[in-house]
Formats: sequence, C-alpha cells, structure tokens
Amino acid sequence: MANILIVENNQETLGKLTEILDQAGFQSESCCNLKEACEFNLDGFDAIVCNLRLPASPGTEIIKHTSTPVLFTSNFASLHSAADSSKNGAMEYLSIPFQADEVISSLKKITSKPIAKKGKSINKSNEDPVPGMVGSCPAMKELFRRIRKVALTNSSVLIQGESGTGKELVAKALHEASSRKNANLISINCAAIPENLIESELFGHEKGSFTGATTTRTGLVEAANNGTLFLDEIGELPLEAQARLLRVLQEHEIRKVGSVQSTKVDVRLIAATHRDLQQFVIEGLFREDLFYRINVMPLQIPPLRARGTDILELAEKKLQLICQRLGMEPMYFSADSIQAITVYPWPGNVRELENAIERAVILAESPEIPIDLLGIDVELKEFTALNIEQLQLKRNKPIHLVDNEAEITKDIDDDPPEDLSLEDYFQRFVLDHQDSMNETQLAKKLGISRKCLWERRQRFGIPRQKKSV
Ligand SMILES: Nc1ncnc2c1ncn2[C@@H]1O[C@H](COP(=O)(O)OP(=O)(O)OP(=O)(O)O)[C@@H](O)[C@H]1O
Ligand SMILES: [Mg+2]
Repeated sequence: MANILIVENNQETLGKLTEILDQAGFQSESCCNLKEACEFNLDGFDAIVCNLRLPASPGTEIIKHTSTPVLFTSNFASLHSAADSSKNGAMEYLSIPFQADEVISSLKKITSKPIAKKGKSINKSNEDPVPGMVGSCPAMKELFRRIRKVALTNSSVLIQGESGTGKELVAKALHEASSRKNANLISINCAAIPENLIESELFGHEKGSFTGATTTRTGLVEAANNGTLFLDEIGELPLEAQARLLRVLQEHEIRKVGSVQSTKVDVRLIAATHRDLQQFVIEGLFREDLFYRINVMPLQIPPLRARGTDILELAEKKLQLICQRLGMEPMYFSADSIQAITVYPWPGNVRELENAIERAVILAESPEIPIDLLGIDVELKEFTALNIEQLQLKRNKPIHLVDNEAEITKDIDDDPPEDLSLEDYFQRFVLDHQDSMNETQLAKKLGISRKCLWERRQRFGIPRQKKSV
C-alpha cells in the first residue's frame, strides 16, 4: 500500500485530502509546514502532497530535501512556479478545490515517473558512475553519460583505452543498461584464442571441416544471438576472421566453417582494443571496411593518470574492497603512500593500481600501508601544493607531507622483497625473450599455459607485441 505524506496547513484541505487518500486505499501521514515535514524520513514515502504556500517557507523548498515525487497544491495563481519546477523530475500540480479522481490520477502519474536523485536533475544523474565503476572527474562523467546514451541503441561500439583502464567493465555496463540485458553477453578475448582456432570458435564449424572437427559445433557469435557479443582485443583478430565478422555485421548472418549455408543472427557488437586501430588499418593489419563498421560509436576511456583526484578515490575504494575480500581489518594509506599514488603515472592503469594495493595489503604488518610496499617508483618532488589542496578537499581530512623527500623516494629494485622475485623473473624473462620466441614457446619455457601467460602479461602491463602477418 502506497504511503503518502500530506504537508498542508489548512485544516479543511487536509481533512479532504486525508479522506480521498483513505478511500482510495492509500496510507497517509500529515504535518503543517516544511520544518515538521523534514522531521519525517521523506525518502521513505511513495509521494508527497504539499501546498505551495506554506507558512515560513515556500512548499517548493521540499524538493531540496528529498527525491520522493511531489504533488503541489495551490489555491493561488502562482501555479506556474510549480509548473517550472515540474521540469526537474517527478512533480505535478493541482489547483484547489480539486476532485478526488484528480488527486488520485495525479498521484499515479508522478509515482510512475522515474525519480531523479536527491538534489540532481534527471540529466545530471546520467553522469553518475555506472554500476561497478568509480569516477567523478569530468572525463569519466562524460563517459558515463555516453554509456547510458549508447546503451539504448543497437549500434556497434568501439571501446578504446590503454590496458587496464576498464574496457571490459564498460562493455558489461553497456550490456546491462541495454534492452538486451536478459539475453547473453558473450565475451571473447581475441588475443587468448590460438589463431588457427579462432574462426571455428567464433563462427562454429561443420563436422569434418578440418582435422579434429569430429562434430558440428555452434560458434560463440551464434550463442550471443539476441544478446551482445563483446570482442575484446579485436585488433588481434586475424584477417580471415575479420572478413567473416564483417559479413555478420553487414548481412546479419553467419556461416559455419566448412558450411555453405547461412543462419540469421541478431547480435549487438561491442569491440575493445588498446591498439591504435586506425594505424593498424594503415599498416594493412585491420580491414578498413570492418573498422568503419565497428567504429560507429567510439568510447574513449581516459588513462588513470589523467583522472585527477579519481585516482585516490579509486585507491581507497579498492583498498576497502580488497581488505573485505581477504577478510582483513580495514587498512589505510600512510601520507607518503597517498602522495605516491597520486603522482605515479600508473602505466598499467586501474589493474596495476589494484595489484599494487593487493600486494601491499598482503605484505603490510600494520593497518597503515607504507609507501615501500606499493612497489612503485616515484619522485615526490613533483607533488605540488595544488595537489595537496585538491586531495584535502576531496578527502575532507588533512594530509601531512613528509619532510625528507630523499627518504620517501624509493625504488623497488633497491630492496626487492623476496615474495616478489618470481614476478620480477617473469617480467624479465618475457621482455628478454619475446622477440625471439612465440607465445607458445614462451609459455612452455615458463611452465605455464598460454592463457596464463596472456593473463600475466595483462597484469604486469606488458601486452603481446603485434607481429606483421
Ligand atoms: N572505473 C573503475 N572503477 C572501478 N574499478 C575499475 C575501474 N576501471 C577498471 N577497474 C578495475 O580494473 C581492472 C581492469 O579493468 P578491465 O579488465 O575492465 O580493463 P581493460 O581495459 O579491459 O584491461 P585490458 O586492456 O588489460 O584487457 C578490473 O579489475 C576492473 O574491475
Ligand atoms: Mg580487457
């Protein structure tokens, strides 16, 4: 049963409203002015019926205190002011005297409208972070706004951003905010599937179409029918598979490897890459026609270093989540850690930040995370008074600068903790041998699977180099 608050200082009108609501099966509470109204939990009501002319302050003030829809009543010609405020979101107005059915239909109208968040217009809430993502700098707000807009369409989307900036998260958010959200989101990492298998993985194959094809198999594109197909690292897709994909986008049909028949598919394509695809087109590594097909809606994710105070917001959020996940007591960053996190350029972006924090949480011996455990190499001299001011504003608590810069400028190589030596070894091995070995050979030498090699490359920010075909 809907619960309505009536804010009305005229006893006769109040009595009438209470009776109408009661007869229509609503529950109601009442009060005489804004001050009394604010003593209620306003967000807990389904709607508020409020007189525009209240003693002491105008009724329209109530919208500053709640996101609950409001029906304004008035016996004066000042109704146009309510009409203006109705542009803001879930609001209506009604002149006194009113009929019972007018009250009920107006209430139904406002409670079925989307409700803007407190203090914000509907438009503004579009820039709030999408589920799972943190960010409030202008570039991220613009990204969130675009995600919400683009999600409503069926156009192909190309997400571009450096490694670890959140491309996969954006793809998920797009799918979740789209009308396809109840169908499958099929995510495929084009870099993780061996080149000779990629076509049959994506498009399926007929029995006997190649050695080892003992049965007919449905491909992943078909599995995404009516849903979303997310092709991560699309820059790594071999040219033959690019031609087949183009056909899916142009003709909305798919042909299995070894088949002469086509099947209709309805998929929305979201592609992502950390490569410069336009450059790939110039170099002949990516089909130009496919590039234009997928680049209908480009979404650019800014690198972490360009997100200002978002960096610290993300770091603190991740620290909290990692502590929870590992079942540890809450921890916090030391003042010099905060400075370092803010000035370090984070080439591996959010993923590198997460890894640095997780490593530090595991190695820390007290709730305070010292700078050396972050394993990042920074020159704190770059840290200006301006940064400090911004951070203090954001955190709402003071930050104490460390006096001795020399003491806080550390390099992980000076004193590598024992636990990290395997990671160091991995990175050095890959960097030293990737020009002379292919991925299968590298993985074999390291004693890990090809998929694991790929994942570690991502984690350490050393993506596979594109070789000319
Ligand atoms: N804005 C964000 N808020 C919260 N977490 C984020 C954000 N951006 C990225 N992350 C986290 O960072 C990690 C990397 O994100 P994701 O895998 O989406 O990046 P990516 O761009 O696809 O990386 P890659 O290019 O390496 O595939 C994930 O753990 C993700 O949850
Ligand atoms: Mg990714």
